[in-house]
Amino acid sequence: MKIAILGTGAGARCHAAKLIDLGHDVTVGTRSPEATLARSEPDMMGTPPFSAFLAEHPELTLATFADAAAAGELVINGIDGAHAVTALTAGPAPALAGKVLIDYAVPYVYQQEGDTEHPWPTAWGVMPRLDPVDTDSLAERIQRALPDTKVVKTFVTQEQATVVNPAGIAGGDHTMFLAGNDPDAKDAAPLTAARLRLEGRARPRRPARRARYGDVRPPPHGHRPRPRRRRQPLRCQDRPLNRPPAPRWRR
Ligand SMILES: NC(=O)c1ccc[n+]([C@@H]2O[C@H](COP(=O)([O-])OP(=O)(O)OC[C@H]3O[C@@H](n4cnc5c(N)ncnc54)[C@H](OP(=O)(O)O)[C@@H]3O)[C@@H](O)[C@H]2O)c1
Repeated sequence: MKIAILGTGAGARCHAAKLIDLGHDVTVGTRSPEATLARSEPDMMGTPPFSAFLAEHPELTLATFADAAAAGELVINGIDGAHAVTALTAGPAPALAGKVLIDYAVPYVYQQEGDTEHPWPTAWGVMPRLDPVDTDSLAERIQRALPDTKVVKTFVTQEQATVVNPAGIAGGDHTMFLAGNDPDAKDAAPLTAARLRLEGRARPRRPARRARYGDVRPPPHGHRPRPRRRRQPLRCQDRPLNRPPAPRWRR
């Protein structure tokens, strides 16, 4: 599948590396490919320059945000949350019309006057704020700015390492939340994510229709889960650990 990831940060690279591994055709979007490739210093988070990542993944294409959005059948937004709306509406908007845009950006605002000291050391030193928060959200703002695009918010409830390796926690037995206005896109997003194997654990013994929901929704009404197989008790020497010893007179 042709997938565009808008963003060159650590999160976008995490997605790109995994999607390349899974055999997808990945285009990464940036403001200016020339400027991005010219950078030779790590960013404020300590992420190495993008050229180093590209050297490790030569199958990847680097393009402008607009060209990347045009190249992708599915588009993932990993642009810094504070600038995502402006960046998405400036160039890629026409190419995003009619497509599903999976958004995982967080609208953090860094280093503002009056910020609280971060209780533990970070690369940026102060606690970032969320803006918008409570009464609005970044995904809603993107959806309002791009009415012809099907925006689906997801992935943000988990660390990026877990997003691309769900089996890393509890064998993948956890839930990925998603939100969006377009019901078809919400159905398509977990389906796509399941097809990409980015989230939700593979459950080959489940009926195929469960894959429609990517295991993020309750089972359809009337569905009766198959009883779990009882675990064999752990054995130590000859006696199961969870069973009391036989009475003395029976030994
Ligand atoms: N689990 C999760 O859901 C998860 C995990 C990680 C990150 N995130 C979120 O994903 C977003 C990206 O994080 P990140 O750490 O990968 O990268 P980042 O450093 O926050 O953002 C890098 C991207 O934002 C673009 N950008 C920065 N300033 C811009 C501006 N003024 N105008 C237009 N574009 C601008 C950069 O463009 P250039 O390429 O041109 O430099 C780059 O592509 C953040 O909102 C972050 O909070 C979520």
